Amino acid sequence: MGFGRGKVILLGEHAVVHGCPAIAVGIERGVTATAAAAERDLLRLSPWDLALRADPKGDEPLERAFAVALAMYPSRPPLEVSAQVDLPAGAGLGCSAAIGVAVLDAIDEALGIERSRTDLATAALAWEEIFHGNPSGIDNTMSAIGGVGFYRKGDALRPLRSNKPLHLVIGYSGESSSTKQMVASVGRQLKSDRKRVNKAFEGIEVLVRNAKLAIEAGDHIALGQLLDLNHTILSSLMLCTTKLDDMCQAARHAGALGAKMTGAGGGGCMFALAPKRDEALRLQDVLGEDSFVAEVSA
Ligand code: PMV
Repeated sequence: MGFGRGKVILLGEHAVVHGCPAIAVGIERGVTATAAAAERDLLRLSPWDLALRADPKGDEPLERAFAVALAMYPSRPPLEVSAQVDLPAGAGLGCSAAIGVAVLDAIDEALGIERSRTDLATAALAWEEIFHGNPSGIDNTMSAIGGVGFYRKGDALRPLRSNKPLHLVIGYSGESSSTKQMVASVGRQLKSDRKRVNKAFEGIEVLVRNAKLAIEAGDHIALGQLLDLNHTILSSLMLCTTKLDDMCQAARHAGALGAKMTGAGGGGCMFALAPKRDEALRLQDVLGEDSFVAEVSA
């Protein structure tokens, strides 16, 4: 069975596209997939009830991405790939990358190809490029490798170690957004006001570096404060929505150590850092029925 995890960017989204580091975690929820020889190439996606051809010129990005994936296997039979998606799409949890990783992993398994998760992550970048044009590579990397990682575009993922698990509660705003559009919006702001946006990126980089130390030291109080500050900088880049802000505020009032939007923004998800497992369950009630708890060990 092929598997691609979802991911949560703890700090550093958007700045990571422009060369700054970011910290992200892989979560247990993601995409599973199987592949088998068939009469023709087909990609089935549930629960969306989609059946797509591989078409390099298709209107659907998934058709083009599937064509790119299949082209990586020069001698193969026609393949039917069935993927089960257990992540909201357009929600900042790396859904497209997780599908790509799961699909490639399933094809590898069907064809008896063995490769490392790092090589799988590299291969899945070509899939991600169909969706985002200019991805940093963090989504496909975290989806394939998981754990808690310090990532900088072009460098190998650096796993972070700590003796204290992170209790995250992920809340979905119910609003979907396009990563491509949000990344383009930051790109436009950078072009028109380079000084302000570069200052924002510099600020984010400082937060990321301090968060790395806080995670390694198991200092979740400091980490929570850094998350809140990162959220404020992302708001200043017009990436946040009222709904996401309200959810973060509600989580903080209910005892979260920190809360921020995650991923591209403009909708999608936020997350809160809970002090303990039982508090995470309580925060889940505050964040609504679409929220879920993820315990991540570094
Ligand atoms: O919203 P998602 O899950 O696609 O995450 C995007 C993260 C960005 O930093 C905004 C883009 C990127 O390629 O790193």
